[in-house]
Amino acid sequence: MKKALYKNTIDSRRSCPIKKKVLVTRKPPEHVLKELKNHFEIDLWDSEEDKIPRDILLKQIEEVDGVLCLLTENMNKEILERGKNLMVISNLAVGYNNIDVNGASEKGIMVTNTPGVLTETTADLTFALMLATSRKLVEAANVLREGKWKTWSPMFLTGMDIHGATLGIIGLGEIGAAVARRAKGFGMNMMYYNRTPKPFLEKEIGIQYVSKEELLRNSDFVCVLTPLNKETENLITKKELNLMKKTAILINTSRGGIVNEQDLTEALSDGVIWGAGLDVFDQEPISVHHPLLKLSNVVALPHIGSASIQTRTKMWELAAHNLTIALSGGTPPHLVNK
Ligand code: NAP
Ligand code: GLV
Repeated sequence: MKKALYKNTIDSRRSCPIKKKVLVTRKPPEHVLKELKNHFEIDLWDSEEDKIPRDILLKQIEEVDGVLCLLTENMNKEILERGKNLMVISNLAVGYNNIDVNGASEKGIMVTNTPGVLTETTADLTFALMLATSRKLVEAANVLREGKWKTWSPMFLTGMDIHGATLGIIGLGEIGAAVARRAKGFGMNMMYYNRTPKPFLEKEIGIQYVSKEELLRNSDFVCVLTPLNKETENLITKKELNLMKKTAILINTSRGGIVNEQDLTEALSDGVIWGAGLDVFDQEPISVHHPLLKLSNVVALPHIGSASIQTRTKMWELAAHNLTIALSGGTPPHLVNK
């Protein structure tokens, strides 16, 4: 795998001398790269798996008009100050907590994201985590592979039922609503807490608006699906976990930082709640020595919420489209800082 910064300095500049310069911080699918090269002079961090080193990002940002970046890039004040020509930051994610949006707005830099195209895929993964955690799927598969399956036993690897259980969704946005639609099919009772009540969804899905406290006290599954920002940081701490049922399961597919990891580790170790399914963490990648990963009642995944081939491809296409429109003088369809 090449990890060099690839510069598309081919004749494109000669044919179109006003071509703008764009940094792409991870290798896109061929058709997306080809399309971007049609419009721009591209600096590409030519790796699918390794993130662009900070020193290279800092250097390259000085030279470009636009950047197509990932949630792994911390697009903070330091970056914004270096990016003197920067007109747009196009994020390959719906979440944009990796970007200093206020700082970008002050400098007139557009910030875009990729909502919608990943909604159903992330809802699928959220539901998969609910099933995997409640029915101990990872633990059970490991028992079999490790030769520890002796015989069928009545209470061997028993978990919690999903059908008939109560699901509480904190953050009933695009993904939250898609999870609720799935839950309806599974015969779950549903409640939600959201910044803004959503009466139209209450009718459509049959979900009830309650306070955060009521949701925590009554849910068998608590699913966190808000963005990470100053308001939602530490939304779930010891206090909230203590309100939950001892038999309850917490699912976080939104962002690390919303659930306090130390408090969660203690709650899971002390039997305050029954289990947790986590796709996101404070530090990513999470250390393999992290205490959460030592707990058998945790199912942990490496931030794969939107990771289907179809959806990741659509995200690339949408991020490239946002960037292209922004650098062509238009208003990109998914502008975060209107
Ligand atoms: P969305 O449609 O904007 O939904 C977010 C919801 O959270 C909105 O309904 C919003 O309320 C609500 N909310 C915001 N702040 C809140 C607060 N303080 N208290 C209660 N509710 C609050 O976004 P989405 O597309 O569903 O995505 C949600 C998040 O999931 C993203 O921001 C991202 O971090 C995460 N995500 C993770 C993965 C993954 O791979 N694991 C994939 C995709 C997304 P309003 O209606 O009032 O705005
Ligand atoms: C992924 O985590 C996203 O925000 O799209």
